[in-house]
Order: sequence, then structure tokens, then C-alpha cells
Amino acid sequence: MFSHGAFPDVRPRRLRTTAAMRRMTAEHRVHPADLVLPAFVREGIAEPAPISSMPGVVQHTLDSLRRAAAEAADAGVAGIMLFGVPEVKDAVGTAATDPGGILQVALGVVREEVGDALVVMSDLCLDETTDHGHCGLLDERGRVDNDATLARYAEMAVVQAEAGAHVLGPSGMMDGQIGHVRRALDAAGHRDVALLAYTAKYTSAFYGPFREAVESGLTGDRMTYQQDPANGREAMRELSQDLAEGADMVMVKPGLPYLDVLRRVADEVAVPVAAYQISGEYAMVEAAAEKGWIERERAIDETLVCFKRAGADVILTYWAVEAARRADRIE
Ligand code: PBG
Repeated sequence: MFSHGAFPDVRPRRLRTTAAMRRMTAEHRVHPADLVLPAFVREGIAEPAPISSMPGVVQHTLDSLRRAAAEAADAGVAGIMLFGVPEVKDAVGTAATDPGGILQVALGVVREEVGDALVVMSDLCLDETTDHGHCGLLDERGRVDNDATLARYAEMAVVQAEAGAHVLGPSGMMDGQIGHVRRALDAAGHRDVALLAYTAKYTSAFYGPFREAVESGLTGDRMTYQQDPANGREAMRELSQDLAEGADMVMVKPGLPYLDVLRRVADEVAVPVAAYQISGEYAMVEAAAEKGWIERERAIDETLVCFKRAGADVILTYWAVEAARRADRIE
């Protein structure tokens, strides 16, 4: 690095003297267009159902989801990522490929409400619809069967595209899932439906509240398919596969504990990079704030700008609407 001179001529604090000065010299800021709102929709409920481990987040009815989507669009949020919770779950996740399944119906409702004003995304995974709670089909010994699962993902992709999704988010961490889904979409004529690859998705304790949100039946863990938190280099292997298979955007998940992985990915690619600030990250901040141990809004805004600093173009966050309303907009 070239020399900037030395103290006392150099005083970095000069650029921190006023709010206007700090605002002008900020390297990163969060814009509503960076933010995507993940949302849950539950089949068969008459009123939105609060999620106890995620204060402020609910399982939506179709009606309340419609309103939430409109509100997100109004706040200038970029997109919405939908997760469906069916009334009936089974071994193969039948609801995931039923055109009348809750996620597919929700996609239709949201598209009808917002048209193209939001990027409408859907989770492409089986865990919300399987009774065992795994992200794929199980073989006779109870192991997650990669290739049999790919066939289900291919069917899901077409059904979700037909229901109106602009972007699909395959989150199951099966090998080959991006290419498999891409080919299925293309064969069905959905060439413009984009794929947001969950490229580096780690097995994480921080998914805990999400399991409540989708009423997961999972008893074991996902260690045979999601990445080991100890591994950074392995994310680059997943990345090269996803790009070769046609990923349009790539994502790192969870967020805050994995900012190093996010930076590494962002340095490597020429596609947009997303980060997912997951349920447990949300819950930690809300819980500490409720106890009066941290300043809630400052903590939220700090986490979001840190994602930007680490290289994220897009941030999935349950605070998307609130943060968008507060963001320093440049328009
Ligand atoms: C899998 C999926 C999960 C999340 C998003 N997609 C759960 C998991 O992998 O166990 C977690 C999101 C969150 O915790 O906010 N369909």
C-alpha cells in the first residue's frame, strides 16, 4: 500500500467529525434494493400465527402474505423469498409438486398482487414438505438419496416456475442440483427463470427458529449434505460447481458467522452475491434487545452494512421492510 503520510499531518479522525462528513465518506450503505424479505405462508390457518422464537415474524395466511408483499414493494424492497408450510407432510414431500400446494398458491397470489414490482423467489427444497424434515428423499437405510432427490427438485422447479416465480432458490445442498434444475426449467420452456444458488450453505445451530417457522419434523441433523462450519476452502469448490452448472446468483448462508466466506466468494465471481441473515441471527438480536442489552435498531443496521462491506450485493433479512424504510436512500 502506498504511503498516506504520518501523524500529526495525518489525522483520520478529521473525516469522522460530523454526521454529514461520515455520511459522505462511508464506503458502503444499505439501499432498499439490496434487501429481500423471506416470508412464511402456512396452509389452513385463518389468522397469521406468530413464531415465538422470531418475535415480529409470522406464518402468514394467503391474505396477510398478500398485504406483506404489497408493503415490501411499497418500502422499495427488492424481492420476497417464499417458504410454504403445508398442512400435510409425507415422506416424499407431495405438497412441493402439487400445483395446489401452499407454496405454489402463494406464488400466484404474490405475483397477482405485485406483478413484477418485486422479484418473487421461492425456496426450492423438500424439508418444509417432508414428514422426516430432511431436504431430500430417504433411501431404505434412512440416508438422504442425492440423485433421487434431484428428480424431485426438477419437478418442483417446473411447478414453481409455472406458479409465477421469477427466481428459484435451491437450498437443499444436493450435488448437481443447479444443473439438474436448470435443464428441467429449460426443457419446460422456462429459460428466463433465474437460479439463486445456495452455494455455501453450512450446517448450523442458527437455523433453530426456522425449524419452528416451518414446523420441521427433523430429528437428526443435516451434516451429510450441508457444509461443515470448519471449512472455508470447500465453499470455493461448491462455488465452481454452481457457476459451471449455470447459477445466475450465488449465496452464502448463514450470514454473520460466515462473512469471511462471503468475502472470499465475492472476490472470486462475476455474478451477484447474496447473503442470508438467518432466523437465529434475527432471534439473537431481538432477544438481546428485548432484554435491553443492545440497541435494537443500531444493531440491526450495523449487521446489514457489515454484509455490504463483506461483499454482499443482496441481503436476505427478516428486517427487510423495516431496514428499507430506514435506509439512506439514494435515488
Ligand atoms: C431449507 C432452508 C433452511 C433455511 C432456509 N432454507 C433450513 C435448513 O437448512 O435447515 C433457514 C433459514 C433461516 O434459518 O432463516 N429449506
